[in-house]
Amino acid sequence: MEHPLAKSDIDFARPHYRPLVAGFVVVCMLSVLACAQIQKDEAPAPVASQRPPPPWAYPIQPPVKPPPDDGVPRRVPGSTAALTLTEIRDLPNGQGRPENSSLAGLSAGYIAQQVADYKNGLRKSSEPTMGPPALMVANAKSATEDDVKISAEYFASLKYKPWIRVVETETVPKTHVAGFMLVPLEGAGMEPIGQRIIEVAEDVARTTLRDPRSGFIAYVPVGSTKRGEALVTTGGRGKTTMCATCHGQDLKGLGDIPPLAGRSPSYTVRQLYDFQSGARAGLLSAQMKESVAKLTIDDMVSIAAYTASRTP
Ligand code: HEC
Repeated sequence: MEHPLAKSDIDFARPHYRPLVAGFVVVCMLSVLACAQIQKDEAPAPVASQRPPPPWAYPIQPPVKPPPDDGVPRRVPGSTAALTLTEIRDLPNGQGRPENSSLAGLSAGYIAQQVADYKNGLRKSSEPTMGPPALMVANAKSATEDDVKISAEYFASLKYKPWIRVVETETVPKTHVAGFMLVPLEGAGMEPIGQRIIEVAEDVARTTLRDPRSGFIAYVPVGSTKRGEALVTTGGRGKTTMCATCHGQDLKGLGDIPPLAGRSPSYTVRQLYDFQSGARAGLLSAQMKESVAKLTIDDMVSIAAYTASRTP
């Protein structure tokens, strides 16, 4: 007797089954594509240094002629000293600006180590055309051991004061690079912040005169401070490490490990990126390897928003 299933009643070759077969094939293809899409959504975002250095963190100064010095002494509000433009060069209070480092309150040992790293070619920038780091390398090469010791002790003796106001926002003023930092473009209006940190002077004119009482505003994405807090204080379930273990309680520094609280968030993103890319590979940098290995730009933005918002 013939097995009931041996000869199927369904003959897929018969014309009226063809639309069914075709439909089935289409459904299969769609589900494969859907799975691929889900996998794509779940694929981890590339770590930061697989992408080019973000231009907002590495502002490149277009070539400009500095304004001619008219010889007129300038005075900042509340100060009796008056200096000409040529006399105003650096911020001797060590508070720093977004494009460089705030040296005040770092340990002398740490500062000296950084100078040695610059000198030995172990500390560079991921963006070689960015002016200030390149200048640091040149300065480090020409500094004598005594110069380094005296200036390291001087900056270590200064107390770093709150200098940056962190503001979460959806939109920021459109900016351009002037004087090595981002400056709002007058009359250009606003634009979405995206996944960026836009750090600008509270008062550009006073910052140009190096007024030690006029700091910076750091615009950061909405929600980034809270997200950063989770990463910094818990390590984000293996995404990174708890920073306070090394950087001290409240991120105020521990021995020769530098403080992070209240420091420029653009500077912090630059350092995290440089540690990950290997541009910053100084003597002590191996300790930062595990903390930065898996970070994306978004993670770095959030971490820096949080550390900058802490009281130094
Ligand atoms: C195992 C110890 C350790 C941990 C954990 C650690 N760091 Fe560091 N960090 C260091 C050391 C050491 C240095 C100095 C490295 C050098 O000199 O190159 C450093 C340097 C830095 C710098 C550069 C500071 C500057 O002034 O240039 C930043 C920014 C930084 N760490 C952020 C973090 C963040 C954010 C975390 C947590 C996500 C973290 N670190 C976790 C040890 C650590």
